[in-house]
Amino acid sequence: MIKERDLFELISIPFELEGKAPQFIRISSAHISGVSYNNIKDEGLQFIEDLSNSGFKVKVPTTMNPGFCEVFNNDSDEIVKKQKQIVESFIRLGIKPTLSCIPYLYDNIPKKGEHVAWAESNAVLYVNSVIGSWSNKESGLTALASALLGVTAYSGVHLPENRIPRIRIKFNFSMKDEVDAGLAGYVLGKVVKDNVPLVKNCFSQKYSLIEFLASVGTSGIIPIIVIENLTPIDMNFDNIKNLEELTINEEDLERARKEIESTKGDEEAILIGCPHLSFEEIELLFKSSRLPEKETFIFVPRTIKGKIESKYAEMLSKKKNIKIVGDSCILWYGLLKRGFKRVATNSVKGAFYIRNVLNLDVKIKRTREIFGEEK
Ligand code: F3S
Repeated sequence: MIKERDLFELISIPFELEGKAPQFIRISSAHISGVSYNNIKDEGLQFIEDLSNSGFKVKVPTTMNPGFCEVFNNDSDEIVKKQKQIVESFIRLGIKPTLSCIPYLYDNIPKKGEHVAWAESNAVLYVNSVIGSWSNKESGLTALASALLGVTAYSGVHLPENRIPRIRIKFNFSMKDEVDAGLAGYVLGKVVKDNVPLVKNCFSQKYSLIEFLASVGTSGIIPIIVIENLTPIDMNFDNIKNLEELTINEEDLERARKEIESTKGDEEAILIGCPHLSFEEIELLFKSSRLPEKETFIFVPRTIKGKIESKYAEMLSKKKNIKIVGDSCILWYGLLKRGFKRVATNSVKGAFYIRNVLNLDVKIKRTREIFGEEK
C-alpha cells in the first residue's frame, strides 16, 4: 500500500543526494508524463491502478501527456484497452484526460511567477522560458507525487539564483524555420550541459520556438533558456555582460541532422505534431499551396481535435490520406499497426524518438517541403 510518506520521500531525493534537509514549496498545478503504455508497460499500469484504488486524489489542477493511441473508442485491441485502463486510473486520481503535450496553450496555463511541478520537457521549458512560471524538469513519477501532495521540492530552478544565465549562445546562421530551430535546440541542449543559456530571440514563428525548446529538452538537462526580450526574468544586466560565449554554426546543425536521421529511401508516411500542433498551426498548414499525397498524420490535443475536424470536414473528406490524431504521442501505436517502416517528420524531437524508441527509419523534412509555401 502506497503511503503519503512514500510520496514525500520520492520528491525529497534531490536533498538526500546533497545531504540536506528537505524543503518544499506549494504548487498551483501539475502536468504528468508517463502516460503511454509503450513507456510504462504492465508494471506501470499496475502501479497506477494500485495508486488510484488507494484513495489518493490530486490536490492541484493536473493534466496528462498523450498516450500511445486513441483511447476514447470501442477498439478491442489489447494495447488500446491497456492504454484506456491507464487513462481511467489517472482520471480516478482526479487528473484531467487532456492527453496533450502542449497543456500550456489550452488546458493548464500557469501564470507568471507561479510554482508548478511539470513533467514533459518541452512543456517545462515553455513554462519557465516563455510564461515565467517556475518548474523543475520533473519525471512522470515526481510530477504525479507532487500533484497528490500539492507541493514540490524547493530546489533547482524554484530558486531565483538557478535561473540566471551562465553562458551566451550565438546562432551563426539564419533561423529559417522549425527544422533549423529544432536542430539548433538539439545542439544547444548538448553543449550547455547544466548552464542556463542566454540566446537572442530569433524565432519568427511560435511553432519554431516550440520546436526549439522541445529539442533542447531532448538532448539536454536544463529546464530553462533565457531568451532576450521574451523570458520574464529579473536580471542584473551587469552580471551577464561578461558571459562565456559559444557559437552554433550551420555545420553543427548538419552534423546533428546526420546523427538523428536514418534515410533508407522514400518515406511511407508523414507525421506532424511533436509537440502537438495548435489550432493556429493547423490553420496555417491547411492554407499551404499543396497538400501532401502520402499518408499524413497530424497529432493534436483532444481539446481541439473536434473543432479541426468540423472546420475542415470538407477538405478532410476529399483528402482521405490526411488524418487528425488525438490523444496520442507521435510515438503512436498506429504506425506499428499499419506496418510503416520509413516515415518523415518536421520535428527533430520526434525524429530522435521515432528512430530510438520505435526503431523506424526517419527523415527530417521541413513543412514547406511537405506542404509547399503558405499561400
Ligand atoms: Fe509530445 Fe510525444 Fe513529441 S509527448 S513532444 S508528441 S514525443
